[in-house]
Formats: sequence, structure tokens, C-alpha cells
Amino acid sequence: MTEAVNANRVVVLPGDGIGPEIIGEAVKVLQETIRIFGLKIELQEKVAGGAALDSTGEPLPADTLQACRSARAVLHGTFGGPQWEDYPLNKKPLSALLTLRKELDVYANLRRARPFPAMLEKAPLKKELLEGVDLMLIREVTSGIYFGPKESGAFGRGIKASDTMLYSDFEIERVARQAFAISRSRRGKVTCVDKANVLECSRLWRKVMRDVHRDFPEMELNFMYVDDCALQLVLNPRQFDVIIASNIFGDILSNVVSGALVGSVGVLPSATLGEGSRTSLFGPIHGPVNEIAGQNLANPLGAILSTALMLEFAFGEGKPATVIENAVEMVLEDGYRSAELMVPGARQVGTSEMGDLVVEKIRAMTAAK
Ligand code: IPM
Ligand code: MN
Repeated sequence: MTEAVNANRVVVLPGDGIGPEIIGEAVKVLQETIRIFGLKIELQEKVAGGAALDSTGEPLPADTLQACRSARAVLHGTFGGPQWEDYPLNKKPLSALLTLRKELDVYANLRRARPFPAMLEKAPLKKELLEGVDLMLIREVTSGIYFGPKESGAFGRGIKASDTMLYSDFEIERVARQAFAISRSRRGKVTCVDKANVLECSRLWRKVMRDVHRDFPEMELNFMYVDDCALQLVLNPRQFDVIIASNIFGDILSNVVSGALVGSVGVLPSATLGEGSRTSLFGPIHGPVNEIAGQNLANPLGAILSTALMLEFAFGEGKPATVIENAVEMVLEDGYRSAELMVPGARQVGTSEMGDLVVEKIRAMTAAK
């Protein structure tokens, strides 16, 4: 943990499936933004996931992990494919992402849902429900059932398998602090989502949340069971400001948040943060969608918006971040859509055209100033 972080470096991990295509567009947008704003940021590409597995035998080669550790930020694509489906978890491409979260100790995964006005008309939920929705889901990603002891094997005459949801108080406390701190610059309401009626682990979450809340008395804290939350998110999403959840509950809820509230898992970016100036992680939340890989059909907006989060959270460059976000919004307002978001009357564009359109808007917005 003593190595110096290169404060200007971003390591780019395109990954598998549609990863290289969408990250290609994100890099296109990022590089243009870096040029226009004269930012001192350099990109370094490294291999991870299935491609790394095939060439080195490891989903996250030591050299890639080392490069990530010494960078300020990592921009990742998507990992996995049918050819690696039956590999054990530690040899699966997606373990590159899990290992990165653990090794970089980036525990707070931020997924923000603000439906795009241009997409409201055709959103899966009624427009009246979605107007004004602005919520931040904070998901713990270095512990819980993803990382607890696992077992599977013969048991008597059958087979048994187990995964353990395990949290220690300090793991909950540090992410709880992030959640309260983030809610301070928002509407000041934190909802802890759990299953405390059944799970011991959730009862510990509640205790620690209440303890940490004492340091943030001006914030409101409430609790909700995860099954109820899944329903409340589609019945009345405006009630939420900051949601905090354990690894698995946050994983499940974030697809409700992105698919049902924003319109597609393809447009949601994420930021994964640890302590202060350490490396942080950015990337889309969707999978590798191997069926459409290489066909210029994938939606690059989740990846592109991840670069905006990166500029804001890793480099403190709020203005260029907003320019990217506004450019995306304007492209959607102009009626351009990727295949999976197509609606009658919209104009379907491929992955690279979508990236070009965002770049054009950025140029237009910054030239006008
Ligand atoms: C996500 C993804 C990952 C997760 C997978 C790829 C391991 O679904 O970021 O939501 O479950 O955390
Ligand atoms: Mn997920």
C-alpha cells in the first residue's frame, strides 16, 4: 500500500463482449474533453477479463493490478462470455472486477438515477411517477455474500452449496459515513435497505447505521426491507434520496433503478470509491451482452457517462464532467437512440455514431463559450 499513485493516470480496461466498443467511445469522448479543457490526464490501456484469461491464465494479471493500483482512476468495460461460463469463480472473467474492488479497497459503489427528460415519454413507468426522481444508490462492494466463505460439494447422498453473508462493523461503518456525507449535499435523507426481519447481518447493519447517524444528526435515517424497497422503487421512487445497501441487495436494486427508472441498464454509469486520494473505479453497470458484440449496436452511454463521474470524483473536474453529461442529454433530446432504446420516431444510431454525436455536442458547447 506504499506505492505512489500517479495522480494523472487512468488505466483503461476494455474487457469482453461489447466492452471494447463502448469503452472505445468513452475514451473518444474523454480524450476530446481532456484536449478541450487542457486537462493533465493520461490514459494507459491494460488487459483484464476473458482476454487476459486466455493470454495469461488469469482474469486480472499481476501487471494489470499493479498498473491499476498506481493510477488515480480505472475505467472498466464489461467482463465475461459464454466460453468461460463453467469456469470456477476465481477464473471467471468477471472476477477481474470483483478482485479489483477488493484489492483497491473501493467499497462504496455509487449509482445515481436521474431519468433523462427526453426519455420520459417512452419510459417503462408512467411519466408522472418519474418526474423529479433523483436518487443515489450506494452499494457496499468489497464484502457481504460476494466475498464470504463459499462451499460446495457432496453431502450425504446429495450435494450442498453455500455462500455466506458476512459483514464486520467497520465495513458497514465506512460505507455508512460515505452515504451520510453524500446525502449532506443532496436532500439529507438516507434509507438503509436490508432484511432485518430475517438476517442477523442486517441487524448489525441497522445497529451500525444508527451509531454512525449520531455523527450526522441533521440527516434523516430510515430503514426499509429489501422486498418492500423493490416495490416502493416502482410505486413511488420520488420518496428516495440516498439508498444504502449491502453488496447483493444493492446489485439487485440497481437494475430496478436503472432499467425501470432511467429506462435501460445501458445508460447508468457508476463510480466506486474508497478512501480519499486512492485509486477509484468507474464503469457501466451492465454486462458484456456478447450476442451483439462487434456489431456496432451497443449503447455506449453508460460508459461515456462513467467518464463524467471519473472527472468529477477522481479529478475534481466538475465543469468538464457537466459538459459531458449535458452533451449526452442533448443527443438524447435530438432523438438519437441506440438499438435497445429505439422508439417510433427516434433515430437509431450505432455505437460509434453515438460517440461521435456526443463529441460533436461537446465541441459545440465549448466553442460557443
Ligand atoms: C454489477 C455487476 C457485477 C456485480 C458482476 C459483473 C460481478 O452485475 O456491477 O452490478 O454483481 O457486482
Ligand atoms: Mn449487477
